[in-house]
Amino acid sequence: MAEKWTPEGWRSKPAKQMPVYPNSAELAKAETTLRNYPPLVFAGEARRLKATLARVVDGRAFLMQGGDCAESFAEFHPNNIRDTFRVLLQMAVVLTFAAALPVVKVGRLAGQFAKPRSSDTETIDGVTLPAYRGDMINGMEFTREARDPSPARMVQAYNQSAATLNLLRAFAQGGYADLHRVHQWTLGFVASSPLAERFEGLANRIDETLAFMAACGITSETTPQIRETDFFTSHEALLLPYEQVMTRVDSTTGEWYDTSAHMLWIGDRTRTSAGAHVDYLRGIHNPLGIKVGPTTDLDDLIRILDILNPKDEAGRITLIARMGTDKVEAGLPPIIRRITREGRKVAWSCDPMHGNTVKSANGLKTRHFDRIVAEVRGFFAVHRGEGTFPGGVHFELTGQNVTECVGGAQPVTEANLADRYHTHCDPRLNAEQSLELAFEIAEMLKDRRVANRERLAQAV
Ligand code: PEP
Ligand code: CO
Repeated sequence: MAEKWTPEGWRSKPAKQMPVYPNSAELAKAETTLRNYPPLVFAGEARRLKATLARVVDGRAFLMQGGDCAESFAEFHPNNIRDTFRVLLQMAVVLTFAAALPVVKVGRLAGQFAKPRSSDTETIDGVTLPAYRGDMINGMEFTREARDPSPARMVQAYNQSAATLNLLRAFAQGGYADLHRVHQWTLGFVASSPLAERFEGLANRIDETLAFMAACGITSETTPQIRETDFFTSHEALLLPYEQVMTRVDSTTGEWYDTSAHMLWIGDRTRTSAGAHVDYLRGIHNPLGIKVGPTTDLDDLIRILDILNPKDEAGRITLIARMGTDKVEAGLPPIIRRITREGRKVAWSCDPMHGNTVKSANGLKTRHFDRIVAEVRGFFAVHRGEGTFPGGVHFELTGQNVTECVGGAQPVTEANLADRYHTHCDPRLNAEQSLELAFEIAEMLKDRRVANRERLAQAV
C-alpha cells in the first residue's frame, strides 16, 4: 500500500534541484501569503485538459505545447504575451488543417519560472555564487545579492502568472482567437516573410471553409468553437514549496489539484521514483508530463508510472521524449516498446529542443533549426515503425524576433546570434522559425494521415 499522501509529504524524500533559502522566516511569510491567494486555474479546467489528452493517447487529437524556456520578470509585457499566444495560435491552425484533428494548445506560460541546473554553483574569475535557477528563485545578475534565493520572488511569480493568465483567457475567449480573424494574426515582423504568404494561403482556405459552413448554418453564433479556443497552461513542477502552497482541494470532487497550472511536468533531472518530485505529483489530479531521454532507466520509469498513474487512466500521463536528433531513432524505440509491452496508456510528445543544445563559437547556447526539424521527423518515423501515435510536440519559442536558434528560412547565423539574444535560459525559436516548423510538421502529419488511410483500406 502506498503511504497516505499529503501536499507536504515530499519534504521527507530526497529533493533534487531545490534552492536553500538563507532566511527561513521570509520563506514562511511568502508561503503563508500564497496559501491565502486564489487558485490560478480550476480543477474542472484541468479535468477538461486531461479528457482531451486522453484523445491524444488514441490518435484522436494532437498536442501542441510551447512557450518560454524560462519566463522572466524583465520580459513581462502584454505585447510579449500576445505575440507568443499569436504564434501558438498560428501554429495550431497550420497543424489542425494538416492533421484534420483537434489540436490541444498548452502554453509554457503563466508559471514557467523555475529552472533545473547542471551545477549548483557558478564560478567567474575565482568568485563562486549559487547558480541562477529562474526568476521565481533568484536573479540572473552575478552578485551575491541577486543569486541568494529570495522567497518574495515566489509571490512576484504568482502575481505575474495571474496577470498573464488573465490576458490569455481574454485572448482565448474574448474574440482574438476567432477564426474569422485568422488573417490578422500575421501582423508583426513575420508579415514581410515568405512564410506570411504561405500562411495567407492557408488563411484564405479557412475563410472559404467558414463561408461554406456559414451557408450551411454553422456560424460563430451556433458554434462557439469558431470564435473562441481552449488554451491551457503548464510548467515544470520544480520548486515544490511553491507547488505545495498552490495545492488545493477541489470542492466538487474532494480531490487535490495543483492550481498553479493545468498541466505540470517532471523534468529530466528530477525524474526518479524515490524522489520528492514524484511524491508530490502522485497526489494531485492534474494531467502530468514526464520528460524521457537517453538517461531514462526503464524499470524506474515503470515504477514512476505505477506511482503516478496506478489506475492507468488515459490522459493522466504524457511522455515527452527529448532524445536529441542523433539518438531518437535508436533510443526511442526501446522506450516505446517497454511502455507498449506493459500495456500503459500514455500520450507521446516530442521535445526536439533539450537534446539539441550546443555552444556556438561565440560561447552562446544555441540550437540548429534543421536539427530540431530532424528530431521531430525521427520521432514521427519511429512511431510509424512501432505502430504508435506521434501525439504531440513541445517547443521553446517566443513571438518575438529574437536571434537565439540558428537557421530557418531567413536564417539566423552564428555571427548574428548576439543581436537579439534575450532568453533567460535556453535558446528559443522566434516567431518565424516557429511557423516554419509548424509547416514542416504539417507535412509529417499529412503523410501520416495518408499512410493511415492506406493501412485502413488494406485492412478492409
Ligand atoms: C525544460 O523543459 O525546460 C527542461 C529543463 O527540460 P529537461 O528537463 O527535459 O532537460
Ligand atoms: Co529549456
